[in-house]
Parts: sequence; C-alpha cells; structure tokens
Amino acid sequence: MRSFASYTTSLISLSLLSLLAVFPTATTAATAEQWRSRSIYQIITDRFALPDPSTPNLLTVPNEDCNPADQTWCGGTWQSIIANLDYIQGMGFTAIWISPVSQNYDGPRTPYGDAYHGYWSQDVTALNPRMGSSDDLKALSNALHARGMYLMVDIVANNVVTLDYQNPDLSKFAFNQPDMFHPYCPIDFSNQTSIEQCWLGDTVVALMDVNTENQDVISGYQSWISQLVQEYQIDGLRIDAAKHVRKDFWPGFCGSAGVFCMGEVFGGDVGYNAEYQGYLDSVLDYPGYDYVVSAFALPGPGNISGLVDALHQGQELYKDMSVLGSFLENQDNPRWANISVDPQSLWNAMVWQFLAGGIPIVYYGQEQGLKGNADPYNREPLWPTGYANTTTYQLIGKLNTLRDFLATNSPDFLTANVTVLGATNNEVAIGRGPMVAVMTNRGSPPVNASMGVYGAGFGTGVPLLEVLSCQQFTTGSQGSLLIDYSAGGHASIFMRLSDLHGSGLCGQYTNVDPNINGLSSTNGARSFARGTLWSAAVLAAILAVTLVCVS
Ligand SMILES: *[C@@H]1O[C@H](CO)[C@@H](O)[C@H](O)[C@H]1NC(C)=O
Ligand SMILES: *[C@@H]1O[C@H](CO)[C@@H](O)[C@H](O)[C@H]1NC(C)=O
Ligand SMILES: *[C@@H]1O[C@H](CO)[C@@H](O)[C@H](O)[C@H]1NC(C)=O
Ligand SMILES: *[C@@H]1O[C@H](CO)[C@@H](O)[C@H](O)[C@H]1NC(C)=O
Ligand SMILES: *[C@@H]1O[C@H](CO)[C@@H](O)[C@H](O)[C@H]1NC(C)=O
Ligand SMILES: *[C@@H]1O[C@H](CO)[C@@H](O)[C@H](O)[C@H]1NC(C)=O
Repeated sequence: MRSFASYTTSLISLSLLSLLAVFPTATTAATAEQWRSRSIYQIITDRFALPDPSTPNLLTVPNEDCNPADQTWCGGTWQSIIANLDYIQGMGFTAIWISPVSQNYDGPRTPYGDAYHGYWSQDVTALNPRMGSSDDLKALSNALHARGMYLMVDIVANNVVTLDYQNPDLSKFAFNQPDMFHPYCPIDFSNQTSIEQCWLGDTVVALMDVNTENQDVISGYQSWISQLVQEYQIDGLRIDAAKHVRKDFWPGFCGSAGVFCMGEVFGGDVGYNAEYQGYLDSVLDYPGYDYVVSAFALPGPGNISGLVDALHQGQELYKDMSVLGSFLENQDNPRWANISVDPQSLWNAMVWQFLAGGIPIVYYGQEQGLKGNADPYNREPLWPTGYANTTTYQLIGKLNTLRDFLATNSPDFLTANVTVLGATNNEVAIGRGPMVAVMTNRGSPPVNASMGVYGAGFGTGVPLLEVLSCQQFTTGSQGSLLIDYSAGGHASIFMRLSDLHGSGLCGQYTNVDPNINGLSSTNGARSFARGTLWSAAVLAAILAVTLVCVS
C-alpha cells in the first residue's frame, strides 16, 4: 500500500499540473506515454449539442428535430461543445476527439447528403466555418486545457472529395497540381498498393486520392499539420483512413505534428493492424472490437475463446497494446444497442473495454443507449436524450475513476500484460495489476450458474470489494472467488479493500491504514458484515448482483 506521504506528494503534483493547465501556453505536445492513461469521448461536432439559435453568425440553423437519415447539417458547433463539457467531464473523461475541423464540400446536396460529418475535406488548410471560427476552436482547446483535458482532432489526409471524378476542379483543394493526386481507379482490397493509391468513395461522391509520394505534398502536409497543432494547441490526432496511405508517410507526418497519432486501420486482422504500430503511435483496435462483439453481443455467437485468442495474439504482435484505441461504437459501425438487445451485454463489454483494453474511447450517445445502425443512422443528435444521467453514464464514471486510480497508484497497471485467469463459454476472468475482472455474456435474466476464479493471487480470507456493486466479501481457500448469476449476468471487478482506500469508490475516500479503521484481518468480521448489509441494498437497486464467497 502507498504511504500517506507519497499520496500527499501526488496530490501536490496534481494541483501543480492543474495550475499549469490554466495557462494554455504552458501546454506541451502530448506523447503516447501521456495519452496512455487518458480516456476519450468521441464527438461528431454537428450532432453533439446545439447552440442557442440567437448565437450570431451561425451558418446552420439549429435543428431540434435532426433526423440522421436526412444526412444534412443539424447545427452543432465548437462553442456548443464548450457549453457541454460538464456533461463529458461528469463521466470522468480526460480527452475528447472531435470530427474533422477542415473545410468541407459545401455545394449542392449530393445523392449521399451533405458533409455534416466533416470527412468530405476539400481544403485542409482552412477551417470548416459551419463549426465556428478560428477563435472558437482556440476557445475549445483552452476550455479543455483549463479542465486538464486533452483535445484530439480527426485528420483526413488520404483524400479530398469531388463530385466530378473525371474532371475535378483542382482550384478547390490545398493541393492543386494534377500530379498531386493518384489517377482514378476503384480499390481492389486484396492489393495493398491499390488500397493505398486507388480511390475511396465511388464515382458519384469520389474521394480523390492524394499522391502522398509527391515531395510537395509531403512537405505541404508536414508544414500544415505542424501549424495546425501549434495554433490550436492540439494534443493528439486521430488519422482517418490511415491504411489508405503508404505506411512510411506517417512517421514524417506525425513527427511534424509532434503529438500522439492514432490511425484508423479498418479491418479485423490483428497482424495487419499491428504492423501499423511500427509507423504510428497507435491504431484503433478494430480487431479487438470485432472479437468483443462476437464474445458479448446478445444474441450472438458468444465467442469468448476467440476473444481470449485475439488478446494473446495481440500481446505477441502489437508493439504496445496499452495505447491502442479501444471502442465499442463509432461513426462507421452500428451502435452497440443496434446489434445487441440486452444492456448487460454493453456493461460487460465496457468492463472489458476499460480494463482489458488500451485507451478507452466512448462514442457520444453510447452512454444514452442510442440504437442507430451503421452510417448515417449511428450519427444521431444527442440533444433529444436530454443528456440524462443514465445507468451507463454512471458506469462510465465509475470505470474512469477506477482506471485513473489504478493508473496513478499501481505504476505498471497500464503497461502490464492482461492475464486471462479463466474462461468458459460464457465467462472470462482477467487479472491486471491489483485488479481482477470477470465478464459474462449470460445477459440479464437470472440463471442458475456461477463462475469460479482461481489463481487470482489475493490469498485466503482477504477482504475484497466488488467495485460495481460495492459489496464487500472475503476470498475463499487459496484466494478463490465464486461469482453467482442467480440475479443475472453482471460484470464484477474485485480489488483488495486495502488497495481501494483513497479511490473514492464505494465510499473509500481516505487512505488511512485499515488497522486504524477497525478493518484489520483479525477484527474485520464485524465491519464486513455491516458492509454486506449496506451494500446489499445498493446491489438490489443498481445491478441486482449476488456474490457468494467460497469457504
Ligand atoms: C495492385 O494495384 C496497383 C495500383 O492500382 C496496380 O498497379 C498493380 O498492378 C496491382 N497489382 C496486382 C497484382 O494486381
Ligand atoms: C471463435 O473465434 C475464432 C477466432 O476467430 C474462430 O476460429 C472460431 O471459429 C469462432 N467460433 C465460433 C463458435 O464462432
Ligand atoms: C506480454 O506477453 C507477450 C506474449 O506472451 C510477451 O511476449 C511479452 O513479453 C509480455 N510483456 C510483458 C510486459 O510481460
Ligand atoms: C437498428 O437501426 C435501424 C436504423 O437506425 C433501426 O431501424 C432498427 O430498429 C435498429 N435495431 C435495433 C435492434 O435497435
Ligand atoms: C447521477 O446519478 C447518480 C446516482 O443518483 C449520482 O450519484 C450522480 O451524482 C449523478 N451525476 C450527475 C452528473 O448528475
Ligand atoms: C441449480 O443447479 C444445481 C446444480 O446443477 C442444482 O443442484 C440446483 O437444484 C439448481 N437450483 C435451482 C433453483 O434450479
């Protein structure tokens, strides 16, 4: 356990950090090391929050009735994100990722609607005026830094958009020479050169492939990204379509940016994805996403063994799994609630996401149970939810608090390999640092079943807290745990009671020695009984969890 002195020191350094963060000029470029302990809330700026309609200079009339099927602007801005940062910070997020900020196609409506999502970039060197002014984007960056939060911006470098693929008007683009683009060809996804040089989109709305082998393009992109990052004090980049650009373009680009880069490498192959970590700090964990869906979604194949195998494969192949972007939803995939009908499946998958994965990324609206299918239905407006304090909102808060606490108090929590302690067709138990988590795909209905976990390393007769239900109990012989599902398929997170002091979780606000508290191993029985009675009420109310101790 940590001494009080070291706790005080970290409190002091924390407040120094927040003092520094008040002055944006003191912000330094954030590295992978600094991002590792962060957790990210992903936003489509147009859809997260509406500005007051009386705001001057709005280019989009705020649309309360925003229907994602219409594929047009609804009116969110950088200023309306600022106005709602409390909602995001209320879940414990320490960073946001916003949709691309660059100027987009803004002409007559296309057969696929308008560029509300920001991915139809024309001139990367100009900002998108629909989202606000340069001062507004700076204000967002400053507001985040004043809260000690990071700003990640989505970058589209692979392509620009054109509605005339045979005869594009190059004057619209930052790069305006014909040799700055690859000639048109449709992508053959079995050919890596074709993936990198042919065009995304189609012949109706074509995504013209920028020639990232061209020296003027390379230097143009490098000076642009360096200026953008410095001017707006951006802390990290999410790179769209990263696998559609030659790999060795990225080190120079990210080196010029001087901040953490996370690339989108769409696809389920661990080895293919992992290769990109040789060129980018991080990639989105697309393979992990596929395996989590097939392990936990209900109804679904319930493929726990696939998930475990993929974890072990990842540990072999990735340079650093702890900085991968771990997500369950995003702007390109169906919402979790669209593919899985039982909220317990989401809560179990989220425990995996936050505690077995890399940097957790929650797509706006995941906390509100939005149900849209793939693009464009997964880009719902958030305002109709009233930004409610849902069960999922609270679970995210708890998982962020726990992860922050573990990252601060257990030095190698984030970098240590996740260990699989046991797996059945329905459960998987993992250990990471001082924490053991057990997830199941059994779903909400009560079932006469249980999961035993052995080798968790807690020792016999040790007082534990199950962090989600706040129930206290004691380990059985050789530290065994038995999780009972007679109240439904909940997830469980176990920590030694003594390891949670000072976390603020389950009322553990102080870090005084448990012996002073009357909770020592010799006289803990009474306190334990009290804890159990108290937590049983919380239990029934929140998660209806039952835990049984093996003796
Ligand atoms: C792969 O794609 C590139 C770019 O379109 C093309 O030049 C090359 O011939 C393709 N290779 C094969 C084997 O099809
Ligand atoms: C589970 O996933 C593994 C790895 O992808 C696969 O080989 C296996 O066939 C899957 N099993 C089921 C039941 O889907
Ligand atoms: C994590 O596991 C992999 C695969 O078993 C191993 O190669 C690697 O050394 C381990 N890393 C740590 C930090 O233990
Ligand atoms: C999935 O999304 C589609 C389109 O948004 C919707 O019609 C459908 O009802 C959704 N399915 C579920 C299970 O929510
Ligand atoms: C959400 O509700 C919980 C439980 O009632 C409460 O503890 C928490 O403070 C609320 N959070 C917000 C941001 O209102
Ligand atoms: C639960 O399963 C056990 C072992 O199969 C059995 O002995 C017991 O009667 C079952 N309980 C109920 C309530 O079905």
